Amino acid sequence: MAEEDIKYPVPARLLDPAQCPEPYVKSYEQYKEMHRQSIQNPDEFFGKMATELLSWSKPFHTVRHGGLDHGDTAWFLDGQLNASYNCVDRHAFANPDKIAIIYEADEPNQSENITYSELLRKVCQLAGALRARGIKKGDTVAIYMPMIPEAVVSFLACARIGALHSVVFAGFSAEALRDRVQDAQCRLVITSDQGKRGGKSIETKKIVDEALKTCPSVETVIVCQRTGAEVPMKEGRDFWWGEECSKRMTYLTPEPMHSEDPLFLLYTSGSTGQPKGVMHTTAGYLLGAAATVKYVFDYHPGDIFACMADVGWITGHSYIVYGPLTLGATTVLFESIPTYPTPARYWELIAKHKVTQFYTAPTAIRALRRLGDQWVEGHDLSSLRVLGTVGEPINPEAWHWYNDKVGKGRCAIVDTYWQTETGSHIVTPLPGAIATKPGAATVPFFGIDIAILDPVTGKELEGNDVTGVLAVKKAWPSVARTVYGNHHRYLETYLKPYPGYYFTGDGATRDKDGYIWIRGRVDDVINVSGHRLSTAEIESALIMHQAVAETAVIGAADDVTGQCIHAFVCLKPGVSNHSTDLSRELVLQVRKVIGPFAAPKKIYLVEDLPKTRSGKLMRRILRKIIAGEEDSLGDISTLADPSVVEVLINKVANA
Ligand code: WTA
Repeated sequence: MAEEDIKYPVPARLLDPAQCPEPYVKSYEQYKEMHRQSIQNPDEFFGKMATELLSWSKPFHTVRHGGLDHGDTAWFLDGQLNASYNCVDRHAFANPDKIAIIYEADEPNQSENITYSELLRKVCQLAGALRARGIKKGDTVAIYMPMIPEAVVSFLACARIGALHSVVFAGFSAEALRDRVQDAQCRLVITSDQGKRGGKSIETKKIVDEALKTCPSVETVIVCQRTGAEVPMKEGRDFWWGEECSKRMTYLTPEPMHSEDPLFLLYTSGSTGQPKGVMHTTAGYLLGAAATVKYVFDYHPGDIFACMADVGWITGHSYIVYGPLTLGATTVLFESIPTYPTPARYWELIAKHKVTQFYTAPTAIRALRRLGDQWVEGHDLSSLRVLGTVGEPINPEAWHWYNDKVGKGRCAIVDTYWQTETGSHIVTPLPGAIATKPGAATVPFFGIDIAILDPVTGKELEGNDVTGVLAVKKAWPSVARTVYGNHHRYLETYLKPYPGYYFTGDGATRDKDGYIWIRGRVDDVINVSGHRLSTAEIESALIMHQAVAETAVIGAADDVTGQCIHAFVCLKPGVSNHSTDLSRELVLQVRKVIGPFAAPKKIYLVEDLPKTRSGKLMRRILRKIIAGEEDSLGDISTLADPSVVEVLINKVANA
């Protein structure tokens, strides 16, 4: 049998009540029936779920309005609720001493637990401090923070007073931070003196200072102390977290928010060079995050939930903060990296905190697998029930290693497919119900009416054994509502390409068993270590260098990072192209404009790029050359100068 035909059944242990809590969904038939209800009768299905999983200060009257046709999706209308109340207060009232956050600090011996009642006090004090600095409902606060509990407190303090947060991953450069702060017109920035990661310091405050040189909208910066390093404080603008918070009361009433009031912005990369501020609203987003923690991770009270993402990405938003906390779970906040101080760090963390659900990216699994089994052996991983992956397809070798060495064949593996814009998982197995196939995201989650479309005609490809682009037919609660300040762009990017559908930008196959396999982006977005980047963004960073005339950035396959970045660069006339210093400078240029994680792996300094006579760049040809598929370049006679191709093939071969 071919690998993609083999189905791995749900591990028997998960269905044995003597060993595991009973899964919420226990069979494929039960999943099918629930999915059918969620599509045919969404008002009843999600109305009930929203009442069960969320607490409302005013009940909603209308479950659903609008949708994908006009880009006016709205859920749970007339209802009021507050995300921080849902994530903190109600659990602090019921279980004040329950641990909300396990902070696993960079140095393994410095971890710390925060209970729900402590979290409530911290959130209230920061919320009070933000208000005292003039932040009110509808304002936007930027968060540029390392992985410390105060980052989570910052999310929730904003939500408590109805301010939107716009978290910028602390690996972004000052310039990238500046662009995001400017676009969202943030009034306040929350940061730390420094960050710590893998034993190294990250200069968060310095980067903020640099970014804010040209951000007139920012009046206040609140600085949390992580390392105690001396950092310059700007009089009248910068204030210490500790001083600001200690003046504030430890209880502050949450602001009642309408279901469709925005909860946050999160900037992500698209096809153009301009990142877009994806906007999520309160009730629908919160429900999507909570429902998927419950069903996809089969979360049960008492579980210890550990998502290894950074809070700066959507995975951290939904699966470190909002999803687990809405359910009153204990969530692990991991400040370090999988290889610090040794490649056993993940496994030590699981054993130490008795983690039940563990969630990471295929790139981390591949990197750890390479370092050898000795690191994972000898740790007590018996607490684990569900292992998740996210961000990119998982290759079968990595899947088997995760399943055998980490899960010991006793855990469910959930390959969760979703996006910043979807808010929560949209195609994924359910631990107790869906037999898996390594590399397949499997089946649509509740409320997701999936479609595979012919990319050219836009016609829906019915039945099994079809490949096309992945789309969704109906709006679901946690779909992003707009792109901040540019609804037109929202419509153009997601809803107009195939009218009536939400377009994911990914290619996909539905195999003969009806399982969905994600084939990767069909646009100019590339995925490096699960980080989403646009080729146009990297190109515009390179072009800012004075020596560069023109550039083309391509995603190439990489064994560890999934994809990596190759950049073809044409220099301006008169600039010598033999200097290795120049390549280094160009890499630095990208690090400076975007951040270290966007650095090209290879730079080819070339004389010319393959273009049609009308001047259109033929990326397809560059992709083929990089992939070593020169013999299937297709028709190159339309090129203005077909001889360029030969030169490029040699260049790449000799690089
Ligand atoms: C890719 C991350 C295959 C996909 C949550 C998508 C995946 C993009 C998977 C979104 C998966 C995410 N299998 N591909 N399980 N999960 N992707 O917005 O190309 O950072 O469009 O959200 O990652 O990246 P984003």
